[in-house]
Amino acid sequence: MSVVPSLLVLLFIHTADLCRTLKPVKNHVLIGHVIKTMQESSFEICTYHCELDDKCFSVNIYTKTRKCEINYGTLPLEALGIEDDNKIFDGQLTSSSAHVGYEAWRGRLHGQGSWKPVKNYLSPSYNVSFPYSTVNITYIATQGAPTEDCWMTSFKLQYRIQDGSLKDYLQTIAGNTDRNTVIYHPLKPALTGVKLLSIRPSSSHGCIALRLELYK
Ligand SMILES: *[C@@H]1O[C@H](CO)[C@@H](O)[C@H](O)[C@H]1NC(C)=O
Ligand SMILES: *[C@@H]1O[C@H](CO)[C@@H](O)[C@H](O)[C@H]1NC(C)=O
Repeated sequence: MSVVPSLLVLLFIHTADLCRTLKPVKNHVLIGHVIKTMQESSFEICTYHCELDDKCFSVNIYTKTRKCEINYGTLPLEALGIEDDNKIFDGQLTSSSAHVGYEAWRGRLHGQGSWKPVKNYLSPSYNVSFPYSTVNITYIATQGAPTEDCWMTSFKLQYRIQDGSLKDYLQTIAGNTDRNTVIYHPLKPALTGVKLLSIRPSSSHGCIALRLELYK
Protein backbone atom coordinates (compact mmCIF):
# COMPACT_ATOMS: atom_id res chain seq x y z
CA MET A 1 0.00 0.00 0.00
CA SER A 2 1.40 3.38 -0.88
CA VAL A 3 1.50 6.05 1.79
CA VAL A 4 -0.22 9.23 0.73
CA PRO A 5 0.54 12.10 3.08
CA SER A 6 -1.90 14.81 4.06
CA LEU A 7 -2.78 16.86 1.09
CA LEU A 8 -3.54 20.52 1.14
CA VAL A 9 -5.46 22.00 -1.72
CA LEU A 10 -5.26 25.74 -2.14
CA LEU A 11 -8.11 27.40 -3.91
CA PHE A 12 -6.59 30.59 -5.22
CA ILE A 13 -9.16 33.19 -6.05
CA HIS A 14 -8.11 35.67 -8.67
CA THR A 15 -10.38 38.62 -8.18
CA ALA A 16 -9.26 40.28 -11.42
CA ASP A 17 -10.66 37.63 -13.72
CA LEU A 18 -12.90 35.81 -11.22
CA CYS A 19 -11.36 32.50 -12.04
CA ARG A 20 -10.23 29.90 -9.53
CA THR A 21 -7.40 27.48 -9.85
CA LEU A 22 -6.82 24.36 -7.86
CA LYS A 23 -3.33 23.65 -6.69
CA PRO A 24 -2.65 20.54 -4.65
CA VAL A 25 0.24 20.97 -2.24
CA LYS A 26 1.51 17.76 -0.71
CA ASN A 27 2.92 17.59 2.80
CA HIS A 28 1.48 20.93 3.86
CA VAL A 29 -1.15 21.75 6.40
CA LEU A 30 -2.84 25.00 7.28
CA ILE A 31 -3.50 25.27 10.98
CA GLY A 32 -5.37 27.58 13.32
CA HIS A 33 -7.70 28.82 10.60
CA VAL A 34 -10.23 26.04 10.36
CA ILE A 35 -13.78 27.28 9.73
CA LYS A 36 -15.40 23.89 9.50
CA THR A 37 -14.43 20.21 9.81
CA MET A 38 -16.13 17.34 8.03
CA GLN A 39 -15.42 13.67 8.65
CA GLU A 40 -15.68 11.00 5.96
CA SER A 41 -15.32 13.47 3.15
CA SER A 42 -13.94 13.19 -0.35
CA PHE A 43 -11.81 15.53 -2.43
CA GLU A 44 -14.87 16.61 -4.45
CA ILE A 45 -17.14 17.23 -1.47
CA CYS A 46 -14.44 19.06 0.43
CA THR A 47 -13.50 21.42 -2.41
CA TYR A 48 -17.19 21.94 -3.25
CA HIS A 49 -17.88 23.14 0.30
CA CYS A 50 -14.91 25.46 0.04
CA GLU A 51 -16.27 27.01 -3.14
CA LEU A 52 -19.64 27.57 -1.47
CA ASP A 53 -18.04 29.51 1.38
CA ASP A 54 -16.84 33.06 0.60
CA LYS A 55 -14.31 32.96 3.42
CA CYS A 56 -12.72 29.70 2.33
CA PHE A 57 -9.16 30.05 1.10
CA SER A 58 -8.01 26.46 1.23
CA VAL A 59 -8.89 22.99 2.43
CA ASN A 60 -6.85 20.40 4.29
CA ILE A 61 -7.66 16.91 3.10
CA TYR A 62 -6.28 14.10 5.24
CA THR A 63 -5.99 11.28 2.77
CA LYS A 64 -5.64 8.58 5.43
CA THR A 65 -8.58 9.56 7.62
CA ARG A 66 -10.76 11.29 4.97
CA LYS A 67 -11.19 14.31 7.20
CA CYS A 68 -11.77 17.62 5.45
CA GLU A 69 -10.99 21.03 6.99
CA ILE A 70 -12.11 24.29 5.43
CA ASN A 71 -9.77 27.18 6.20
CA TYR A 72 -9.49 30.92 6.27
CA GLY A 73 -6.53 32.19 4.31
CA THR A 74 -2.95 32.27 5.43
CA LEU A 75 0.28 30.54 4.51
CA PRO A 76 0.43 26.80 5.15
CA LEU A 77 3.08 25.01 7.15
CA GLU A 78 5.36 22.62 5.33
CA ALA A 79 5.90 19.25 6.95
CA LEU A 80 9.45 17.94 7.24
CA GLY A 81 7.91 14.62 6.26
CA ILE A 82 7.71 12.14 9.14
CA GLU A 83 4.25 11.16 7.91
CA ASP A 84 5.74 10.52 4.47
CA ASP A 85 8.31 7.75 4.86
CA ASN A 86 9.96 8.71 1.58
CA LYS A 87 11.12 11.93 3.22
CA ILE A 88 12.16 11.00 6.74
CA PHE A 89 13.50 7.48 6.79
CA ASP A 90 12.99 4.90 9.49
CA GLY A 91 16.64 5.25 10.49
CA GLN A 92 16.14 8.90 11.43
CA LEU A 93 13.59 7.89 14.08
CA THR A 94 15.09 6.28 17.18
CA SER A 95 14.15 5.82 20.81
CA SER A 96 15.81 4.86 24.05
CA SER A 97 13.18 2.19 24.64
CA ALA A 98 10.39 0.61 22.60
CA HIS A 99 7.86 -2.17 22.97
CA VAL A 100 8.06 -4.85 20.29
CA GLY A 101 5.63 -3.74 17.57
CA TYR A 102 5.82 -0.09 18.72
CA GLU A 103 9.26 0.89 17.41
CA ALA A 104 10.20 4.52 16.87
CA TRP A 105 9.76 4.30 13.09
CA ARG A 106 6.06 3.61 13.68
CA GLY A 107 5.57 7.00 15.34
CA ARG A 108 4.44 8.73 12.16
CA LEU A 109 1.48 11.14 12.20
CA HIS A 110 -1.75 9.45 11.03
CA GLY A 111 0.03 6.09 10.98
CA GLN A 112 -1.66 2.84 11.91
CA GLY A 113 0.88 2.19 14.67
CA SER A 114 2.67 4.36 17.21
CA TRP A 115 5.81 4.52 19.32
CA LYS A 116 5.51 3.18 22.86
CA PRO A 117 8.38 2.84 25.32
CA VAL A 118 8.56 -0.19 27.58
CA LYS A 119 6.38 0.30 30.67
CA ASN A 120 8.21 1.83 33.63
CA TYR A 121 11.28 2.65 31.53
CA LEU A 122 12.80 5.61 33.32
CA SER A 123 12.79 8.85 31.30
CA PRO A 124 12.36 7.50 27.75
CA SER A 125 13.26 9.66 24.75
CA TYR A 126 12.09 9.71 21.14
CA ASN A 127 14.59 11.21 18.70
CA VAL A 128 14.40 12.56 15.19
CA SER A 129 17.84 13.12 13.67
CA PHE A 130 19.02 14.90 10.53
CA PRO A 131 22.46 13.46 9.74
CA TYR A 132 22.98 15.12 6.37
CA SER A 133 21.35 18.50 6.90
CA THR A 134 19.95 20.80 9.52
CA VAL A 135 16.34 21.88 9.80
CA ASN A 136 14.29 24.67 11.28
CA ILE A 137 11.23 23.66 13.27
CA THR A 138 8.30 26.00 13.91
CA TYR A 139 5.61 23.51 14.91
CA ILE A 140 5.38 19.99 16.23
CA ALA A 141 2.19 17.95 15.79
CA THR A 142 1.39 14.99 18.05
CA GLN A 143 -1.18 12.20 18.33
CA GLY A 144 -1.54 9.25 20.71
CA ALA A 145 -1.85 5.55 19.92
CA PRO A 146 -4.52 4.79 17.28
CA THR A 147 -6.05 1.71 18.91
CA GLU A 148 -5.66 2.12 22.69
CA ASP A 149 -6.08 4.82 25.31
CA CYS A 150 -2.44 5.85 25.52
CA TRP A 151 -1.05 9.32 24.83
CA MET A 152 1.40 11.88 26.23
CA THR A 153 -0.33 14.61 28.24
CA SER A 154 2.85 16.71 28.45
CA PHE A 155 6.40 16.57 27.18
CA LYS A 156 9.70 18.41 27.04
CA LEU A 157 12.14 18.86 24.18
CA GLN A 158 15.88 18.77 23.86
CA TYR A 159 17.70 19.58 20.64
CA ARG A 160 21.20 19.46 19.26
CA ILE A 161 22.20 22.28 16.98
CA GLN A 162 24.89 22.41 14.38
CA ASP A 163 27.75 23.24 16.72
CA GLY A 164 27.03 20.11 18.70
CA SER A 165 25.67 21.40 21.98
CA LEU A 166 22.54 19.80 23.43
CA LYS A 167 19.98 22.36 24.58
CA ASP A 168 16.79 22.24 26.57
CA TYR A 169 13.64 23.83 25.19
CA LEU A 170 12.55 25.61 28.33
CA GLN A 171 8.79 25.16 28.39
CA THR A 172 6.96 21.95 29.13
CA ILE A 173 4.51 21.45 26.25
CA ALA A 174 0.92 20.31 26.84
CA GLY A 175 0.29 17.10 24.90
CA ASN A 176 -2.79 15.22 23.71
CA THR A 177 -6.24 14.62 25.16
CA ASP A 178 -7.31 11.56 23.16
CA ARG A 179 -5.98 8.93 20.74
CA ASN A 180 -6.35 10.61 17.38
CA THR A 181 -6.86 14.37 17.52
CA VAL A 182 -3.79 16.07 16.07
CA ILE A 183 -2.52 18.81 18.39
CA TYR A 184 -0.24 21.41 16.80
CA HIS A 185 2.25 22.95 19.19
CA PRO A 186 3.98 26.17 18.09
CA LEU A 187 7.61 26.42 19.15
CA LYS A 188 8.35 29.91 20.37
CA PRO A 189 11.06 30.68 19.59
CA ALA A 190 11.30 28.39 16.56
CA LEU A 191 14.30 26.05 16.58
CA THR A 192 16.93 26.71 13.91
CA GLY A 193 19.84 24.63 12.67
CA VAL A 194 18.60 21.45 14.34
CA LYS A 195 20.52 18.16 13.88
CA LEU A 196 18.59 16.21 16.53
CA LEU A 197 15.24 16.74 18.21
CA SER A 198 14.55 14.69 21.31
CA ILE A 199 11.06 14.35 22.76
CA ARG A 200 10.97 13.59 26.47
CA PRO A 201 7.51 12.56 27.71
CA SER A 202 6.72 14.12 31.13
CA SER A 203 3.25 12.68 31.75
CA SER A 204 0.77 10.43 30.03
CA HIS A 205 -2.78 9.11 30.00
CA GLY A 206 -2.52 5.34 30.26
CA CYS A 207 0.81 4.43 28.76
CA ILE A 208 3.06 6.76 26.78
CA ALA A 209 2.41 6.64 23.02
CA LEU A 210 3.31 9.02 20.22
CA ARG A 211 2.78 9.73 16.54
CA LEU A 212 4.27 12.98 15.30
CA GLU A 213 5.16 15.38 12.50
CA LEU A 214 7.46 18.40 12.43
CA TYR A 215 6.95 21.57 10.38
CA LYS A 216 9.44 24.05 8.88
C1 LIG B 1 18.26 10.70 22.01
O1 LIG B 1 18.65 12.01 22.39
C2 LIG B 1 19.15 12.11 23.70
C3 LIG B 1 19.33 13.58 23.99
O2 LIG B 1 18.14 14.12 24.48
C4 LIG B 1 20.42 11.30 23.80
O3 LIG B 1 20.93 11.38 25.11
C5 LIG B 1 20.10 9.85 23.45
O4 LIG B 1 21.31 9.10 23.43
C6 LIG B 1 19.43 9.74 22.10
N1 LIG B 1 18.99 8.35 21.95
C7 LIG B 1 18.82 7.73 20.78
C8 LIG B 1 18.41 6.31 20.83
O5 LIG B 1 18.99 8.29 19.71
C1 LIG C 1 16.65 28.41 9.16
O1 LIG C 1 16.45 29.70 9.68
C2 LIG C 1 17.61 30.52 9.53
C3 LIG C 1 17.39 31.80 10.34
O2 LIG C 1 16.07 32.28 10.24
C4 LIG C 1 17.81 30.78 8.03
O3 LIG C 1 18.94 31.60 7.82
C5 LIG C 1 18.03 29.43 7.35
O4 LIG C 1 18.12 29.60 5.95
C6 LIG C 1 16.90 28.46 7.66
N1 LIG C 1 17.29 27.13 7.17
C7 LIG C 1 16.47 26.33 6.52
C8 LIG C 1 17.02 24.98 6.15
O5 LIG C 1 15.34 26.66 6.19
